[in-house]
Amino acid sequence: MLSKYFPPALLKTIAARAGTPAYVYSQAAFLKQLRAYKKAFRALDPLFCYALKANSNGALCALAAREGFGADVVSGGELYRALRAGFKPGKIIFSGVGKTAEELEYALKAGILFINAESFEEVLALEKAAARLKKPAPVSLRINPDVDPHTHRYITTGKLGSKFGVSFDEALKIYMYAAESKWLRPVGAQFHIGSQVQSAAPYALAAGRLAAFIVKLASRGVTLKYADVGGGWGVKEGAEMPGLSALARAVGGVFSGTGLKVILEPGRSIAAPCGALLTRVIYRKRGGDKNFIVVDGAMNDLVRPAIYGAKHPVVPVAGPRGPVKKFDVVGPVCESGDFLAKGVRLPEPAAGDLLLVLSAGAYGFSMSSQYNSRPRAAEALITGAASWRLVRRRETLRDLVAAELP
Ligand code: LLP
Repeated sequence: MLSKYFPPALLKTIAARAGTPAYVYSQAAFLKQLRAYKKAFRALDPLFCYALKANSNGALCALAAREGFGADVVSGGELYRALRAGFKPGKIIFSGVGKTAEELEYALKAGILFINAESFEEVLALEKAAARLKKPAPVSLRINPDVDPHTHRYITTGKLGSKFGVSFDEALKIYMYAAESKWLRPVGAQFHIGSQVQSAAPYALAAGRLAAFIVKLASRGVTLKYADVGGGWGVKEGAEMPGLSALARAVGGVFSGTGLKVILEPGRSIAAPCGALLTRVIYRKRGGDKNFIVVDGAMNDLVRPAIYGAKHPVVPVAGPRGPVKKFDVVGPVCESGDFLAKGVRLPEPAAGDLLLVLSAGAYGFSMSSQYNSRPRAAEALITGAASWRLVRRRETLRDLVAAELP
């Protein structure tokens, strides 16, 4: 069980000093997974661009940068965070369907590795930005390979009809245009089929299509250097670190020996297992035939159960107290959609007890909000058997209104 990374005594100290709800991350688990990626892909030697959207806390990002990782960013804000955390500009790539002119200029000025453009209009905007700055733009196209990753519909991105990427036919035309442009340098091609993908088969299929397309492009005189297979490798909530060998075989099987530099953009598979949400029981109550545990963490802290029906295991921090019963673990937010877990079996806790919501290191804090005017949670990093530090302070009531104007 993952909780081996979260010693109960330390969790109690963190709760007492940092308050709850708090995100708790294990440095050891985070580093372990970064290194697992390097090991599994050793033969291929790709560039790993950590997807900041999963968890952009500066302390975790700095660890990834120090391990030689690059960064995948999707906004000017994430680019700012990536540069600040120490990722080398030459290892940063920028994805997303709606980059503004300002964001494109910011990326060009920073000298990032390339921009993953997602439409012809974006390529034209990039060309203009490059001309304004008199700095040629390295560009890659996000191609929609029309592959079904068999995941939640909200995080399926590589099927035609989604807003992401361009078709192979359109991509061919755009590359031919870019190759002629004074201000564009086509350097790569990318796909990202979706997130929380549980099998390597869709990667093999999409990678095969991308490789064939890159060969076709070369025959038209456009030679690319990078083949970017996106992120999306899934985790089983509450389980150990996800294995990577099937993914490495699928990607390596297509690209090894091609001379292309492969790029991966993993987010969740690195960050999810290393983080948990620490929350305290406020009350117990019954409603109809249901037992509720009302905790101080809510959908504004961890929205994944509400949006995707994600099932994050909930475990007690102290030893079992009462008899095992079925509970809905809910927060204080005024919506029935505000739950962290439904129908979970737990030894009955008492008010004041701590619970740990597992596999919450990815898309946990990064998707959190101040809904119901709840200050955002603190974030703590466990750095050793008995050591930790605060890596983001809990927001205060003042923070809630800090940006408001009269
Ligand atoms: N690259 C691109 C272009 C992406 O859009 C994403 C995720 C990734 C990489 C990283 O994917 P990962 O390895 O983390 O699966 N909020 C949702 C997940 C949204 C994923 C969006 N794109 C959730 O909580 O499940």
